[in-house]
Amino acid sequence: MSPFSHHIYNGKKMALFTKIPEKSFKNFKNTYSLYFFTIIFGVLRYNLVMSKFLYENYKDYFRVGAAISGIILMNDAEKDELFQNMKKRMEEFKKNFKPQPGMPVFKFPEPQPFPKGDMPDKKLAAEQFNLVVAENECKMGSIYHGPDQFDFSGADRLLAFAKQNNQAMRWHTLVWHNQSPRWIFEDGNGGKASKELLEERLKKYIFTVGERYKDDICSVDVVNECISDKNFVLCDGADRSQWFDILGPDYVDKAFFWAKEAFPNSSLVINDYNLEMIEGKRQGMYKLVKGMKERGVPVDTVGLQMHINIQNPPVSEIEQTIELYGSLGLNVIVTEMEVSAYVDKDFEHPDPRREYDKAFLDEQAERYAQIFECFRKEARAGILKDVVLWGITDRMSWKNNFPAPGRGDCPLLFDGDGNPKPAFDRLTK
Ligand code: XIL
Repeated sequence: MSPFSHHIYNGKKMALFTKIPEKSFKNFKNTYSLYFFTIIFGVLRYNLVMSKFLYENYKDYFRVGAAISGIILMNDAEKDELFQNMKKRMEEFKKNFKPQPGMPVFKFPEPQPFPKGDMPDKKLAAEQFNLVVAENECKMGSIYHGPDQFDFSGADRLLAFAKQNNQAMRWHTLVWHNQSPRWIFEDGNGGKASKELLEERLKKYIFTVGERYKDDICSVDVVNECISDKNFVLCDGADRSQWFDILGPDYVDKAFFWAKEAFPNSSLVINDYNLEMIEGKRQGMYKLVKGMKERGVPVDTVGLQMHINIQNPPVSEIEQTIELYGSLGLNVIVTEMEVSAYVDKDFEHPDPRREYDKAFLDEQAERYAQIFECFRKEARAGILKDVVLWGITDRMSWKNNFPAPGRGDCPLLFDGDGNPKPAFDRLTK
């Protein structure tokens, strides 16, 4: 019986909210108040706890993760130090910047001080996700400062956060041509490192990281972004891959064999962007992983970064991509998803030019909802295992500075102040 229906009271049928005689009031309170508040609390709990936690809604299908910026885990003094460094770097950058002829003119954003105290991202990160990954702190450039110098402070901090919140953690990334330290490719005498030296350094890195984290990491991006956008084979020196340039094409296989030894219980991922967007790239990755499987290389998962936009790619292509890799017996995870407001032709347009009005936010919500439905289907088929968003609030998204520096974007589930956007509401309905 609901407290809003009629109750039998002192032998009389009366509405609950009609006037209750004074002497009976105490009796009423004892009999019904606990019942009443239990139901109200239950309703609130259902709304706030059961359906409003993003990961809860998908827990029977896949984990829902977020990339965590190291900044959201810093205290005020650390944030201030970072801000001062950023200001200094920006000044240097502006002094040395020479625009290429024909390049769009960007207004480089002045670094702004970070808000004091905890940012909303921190609470949301703890509450809404059951998987985390470091946005930058587990990249080689953040960790490997010299042949015997490792800085694990950022990675340790995220791991402590994950453990505190009962979350799984992924590792991004072991081998990538970006955000790698420069010294690793040099011989110390102004020349290039030899193949032997670079291999030794990479091996040492993979085993040192594995030694420290192997029991805590569910999946590792072993090689990141190795397929060329030009011809869809491995990126070479002309694509800025010094790994390929010095080690030759079998560096990918080798990295996976070492990673298997170093992280024997983690799933091993090859991760790239635009696989769901560009047919040629999708096929290029297919050929690469098919060959790896045939050679007995221990790759078990393809990571789709999924930095997509409001129009492209269509859901059907996302589905086909997941199923293509699934057909090789590989798992698929989505590693860096967001839905940018800027469609392909505006990709690099420097000006802010979209209004993030209700129409846009509703369209974005619908797009997220349709894609997550596709994810559910592919999880049911046993292929898709995790879905990770590349950030939490729009304010902290890397898309505010990529590909057009300083052009704000609106790609995630929470607005700049941490309020849920319609897309969040759709995914938690
Ligand atoms: C980005 C981070 O989000 C930025 O903070 C950083 O300045 C550059 O790298 N593909 C990847 C990620 O694999 O590591 C990139 O992350 C985004 C594109």
